[in-house]
Amino acid sequence: MMSTPSSLAPTVTLGNGVAMPRLGLGTWPMDDAEAARVVARALDMGYRLIDTAENYRNERGVGEGLRASGVPREQVFVTTKFNKQWHSVEGVQQACDASLQRLGLDYVDLLLVHWPNPDQDRYVEAFQGMVRLLEAGKVRAIGTSNFKPAHLQRLFDLGLAPHVNQIHLDPYHGRSDVVQVHRERGIVTESWSPLGRAGAMLQEPAILAAAERHGRTAAQVVLRWHTQQGYVPIPKSADPLRLQQNLDSFGFTLSDEEMAAISALDRVNPAMLDSDVFGH
Ligand code: A2P
Repeated sequence: MMSTPSSLAPTVTLGNGVAMPRLGLGTWPMDDAEAARVVARALDMGYRLIDTAENYRNERGVGEGLRASGVPREQVFVTTKFNKQWHSVEGVQQACDASLQRLGLDYVDLLLVHWPNPDQDRYVEAFQGMVRLLEAGKVRAIGTSNFKPAHLQRLFDLGLAPHVNQIHLDPYHGRSDVVQVHRERGIVTESWSPLGRAGAMLQEPAILAAAERHGRTAAQVVLRWHTQQGYVPIPKSADPLRLQQNLDSFGFTLSDEEMAAISALDRVNPAMLDSDVFGH
């Protein structure tokens, strides 16, 4: 049953005119059963972007949650991603069909190359395969995940560009080199683990001070830090109160000073997976 959502996230328009919600639900590491439950609840609450992946092994649950919610398919922006074994023009057609089958959908809104896997060196072919899916109407937008400037450059050299690049980004991981390229090329920045997995970052004085001033939680302040810069964060929560809290993070504005103080938490060489080495 669908309740009336208290709020919907505003949208950003991608390079091809498709509207993407400016905040969504991350589903890693939910299993099918949890994803089904949480996705249905989140959609009824007002979430309109759901992020999954072949590698999360929960696309079936995500599809179930979609159907269980009262929200019409066309109002939801569904993102999925595929693994390196499919990095070829033909392979990507199969990967997409398999995801659609697991999700129980006939199109996805955004398909991403999950990791570049430069050792395999076939991410350009994978991207070309997604262009074909776009033309066939099986996906409404295409993008990359965990691409660094050098990986993106390979696409630019062929006159190609993702609509979105989803990267590990939070106040400790400012990623200014990648974000700069996105800004120059009109690529939307999507932030994974936007809350720093709710670790020590949410206790940082700069974040707590802003939270106190605005009467918000630390998580809401961090999400607003993302959205005020035009980033699309996809916080994962399985908890109803935190789901609601994360969605309700638009109704206030951080000052320039507050934004700068939070951005100053950026670390030199923060711990993170290196997409030149790690991938699946
Ligand atoms: P839970 O699912 O119990 O809410 P990230 O998206 O940065 O990877 O962070 C996900 C982690 O942050 C999860 O452990 C999630 O736990 C927790 N989390 C999500 N939203 C909030 C929130 N508003 N406040 C505190 N912790 C949160």
